[in-house]
Amino acid sequence: MKGHVLVAVLVYWISLAGAHTESANNWISTIWDDFKEAVDCAGCQALLGGLKLVAGFGESFMEDVLIGVCDISGAEDSDVCAGVIANEGPAVHYSLSNLKIGSHTAKTFCASLVGLCDYPAVRPYNLTFPSPKPPTTRPPPSGKPPIKVGHFSDTHVDLSYETGSNYNCTKPICCRSYTENDAPGNTTAPCGSWGNSNCDPPHQLQENMNEAIADLNPAFSIYTGDVVAHDVWLVDKAEALQDFNATYSAMETLGRVYAALGNHDAAPLNLFPSNQLPSEYNPQWAYDTLASDWVGLTGIQSVESANEHGSYSAIHPNSNLRIISYNSIFYYKYNFFSYTEPMEYDPNSQLEWLINELHEAESAGQRVWLISHIPSGDPDHFHDHSHYFDEIVQRYEATIAALFFGHTHTDEFQISYSSYKNRNWDTATAMGYVAPSMTPTSGPPSFRVYDIDPVTFAVLDFTQYTADISDPKKKPEWVPYYSAKKDYGSLLDPPVTDAHAELTPAFWHNVTVVMERDESVFQDYWARRTRGFQVSDCTGDCASNEICALRGADAQYNCFVEQPGFSFEKRDGRENSEALWKKKFQPECNHAGMAPLLAKIAYRASLERE
Ligand SMILES: *[C@@H]1O[C@H](CO)[C@@H](O)[C@H](O)[C@H]1NC(C)=O
Ligand SMILES: *[C@@H]1O[C@H](CO)[C@@H](O)[C@H](O)[C@H]1NC(C)=O
Ligand SMILES: *[C@@H]1O[C@H](CO)[C@@H](O)[C@H](O)[C@H]1NC(C)=O
Ligand SMILES: *[C@@H]1O[C@H](CO)[C@@H](O)[C@H](O)[C@H]1NC(C)=O
Ligand SMILES: *[C@@H]1O[C@H](CO)[C@@H](O)[C@H](O)[C@H]1NC(C)=O
Repeated sequence: MKGHVLVAVLVYWISLAGAHTESANNWISTIWDDFKEAVDCAGCQALLGGLKLVAGFGESFMEDVLIGVCDISGAEDSDVCAGVIANEGPAVHYSLSNLKIGSHTAKTFCASLVGLCDYPAVRPYNLTFPSPKPPTTRPPPSGKPPIKVGHFSDTHVDLSYETGSNYNCTKPICCRSYTENDAPGNTTAPCGSWGNSNCDPPHQLQENMNEAIADLNPAFSIYTGDVVAHDVWLVDKAEALQDFNATYSAMETLGRVYAALGNHDAAPLNLFPSNQLPSEYNPQWAYDTLASDWVGLTGIQSVESANEHGSYSAIHPNSNLRIISYNSIFYYKYNFFSYTEPMEYDPNSQLEWLINELHEAESAGQRVWLISHIPSGDPDHFHDHSHYFDEIVQRYEATIAALFFGHTHTDEFQISYSSYKNRNWDTATAMGYVAPSMTPTSGPPSFRVYDIDPVTFAVLDFTQYTADISDPKKKPEWVPYYSAKKDYGSLLDPPVTDAHAELTPAFWHNVTVVMERDESVFQDYWARRTRGFQVSDCTGDCASNEICALRGADAQYNCFVEQPGFSFEKRDGRENSEALWKKKFQPECNHAGMAPLLAKIAYRASLERE
């Protein structure tokens, strides 16, 4: 046992005697030392042990200690430290209080948040299906003229965006007058009127994008969530409600829109407890407000269960299509309320509900679209629930036409297989489309339009659109960037170019095979992820891991290894790692709030380690 742990225990008893201010200071240095020593799974567990002791003194004491540690580390400006910790403190306190050091939950925490434990193996869980899988297969395309469907995601409009304010600020997002020096006229780095890559966009970018989508005459659209901006240390319920209203009101010009809940769509962000936790933690106001926005936008009478936890099932009018929107934030590694002892297998029985909905669809001969925010194969998704979800997808693969996600801000896809040991074109069973973001923090703003078979609702093609917002005065012009069939289908052998052919799971598997064979095809895909923005080098292991991730709808097979956030300076030297740090923590969807703050503190601690 390390010396500081003994000190910690001693300090614990002293604090019990009541010397709180002084002991807070002692705890700050103890926890800061724990961060410095957390270089492996045992170190991470020791750190959790220290934090658990601190949590034992109560929520506000724990918050004071964490704020103190954040300040010494210099991970963020101190107002950001204080804001983030005050927002998410109650959830962290709840989960630390109940955590058992060394448990599956604690290891999942250290594996998924900081990469210091190996990811624990998926816990077996028996899903119950009403009947065995029938021999049905995907229906062939109807050959009828396709309909168009828009897909956009991660809008993150910042209603406080100020044209002319500083884009080169010290906060996670800029283009606001945080200080006098950031104000319009006082800065040499003024934001344009349509957005900047260091900022979430102004509302008028969304209005402009909606017009561009409407001009393409979609039959309907899907929106995979994340309304609220990344000023996560400031966002409160009032701001979130204003954001919901502004964003969803603006969508009325689009006609019917089926939407999904994002991890930013509450305040504080990310925290969506299951119904097994005390209801005081539940963002019921967010579920209720979104449900009424969704009912308004879909035109249907009610969206079943939407009021309960942000999921619903709806039949698209006069069609054979059932759209199921589910809450993937229950399975999100930054949802601190998920780290219960033990972790729940099926929070809110949502998986059971999904099975029922899919079963009804199968029995009625309907096709299904599953829409959600976080891709089930994403590194941000818990392995356990990704696997359970994938088992459901496997059971209903003939009914599920496709899955649609957002969250990553990048343009990606994920393929499901009946056997992950044998990932091949003839074992590929389901296709998940991941649309990039409108917020320009990781590439120009973007949306896509699918060509959809009007009978089978299969995806026949899509075209990605982007707009250049770098000219501060020019109105954005939305132009086609690439198309799946033209830019990938033409490369297959035999080529798939028929307008009526489906982009099947086998099609996409074959695209990944071409990527493996032809480096330039992979590089084109890699650049398209960020719409050509700050394209990093990706060859060798980076490329093969990325291809593995595309074939990894069951997250345990996505080849992702969390970088030990606590020690990556070793390879890079300080200067270089500052740059890496900036990149790693740029305000993407998954890089906001308490968890990345802890990782940043850990990174700062690692720089002081000898
Ligand atoms: C799953 O079912 C098997 C066989 O019916 C049983 O042995 C096992 O205990 C069950 N596991 C769980 C986690 O319920
Ligand atoms: C941004 O600010 C940093 C210092 O805070 C400065 O070194 C850099 O030149 C600025 N960049 C621009 C484009 O103004
Ligand atoms: C710009 O800076 C000056 C002083 O440096 C300050 O008086 C003024 O209020 C600032 N402008 C704004 C809009 O904040
Ligand atoms: C919601 O947004 C609409 C359109 O911008 C606006 O007219 C309305 O006043 C807003 N409602 C609330 C409650 O903020
Ligand atoms: C995928 O590749 C296999 C093997 O080359 C081929 O038989 C199959 O027709 C291809 N499928 C599609 C949709 O491209």
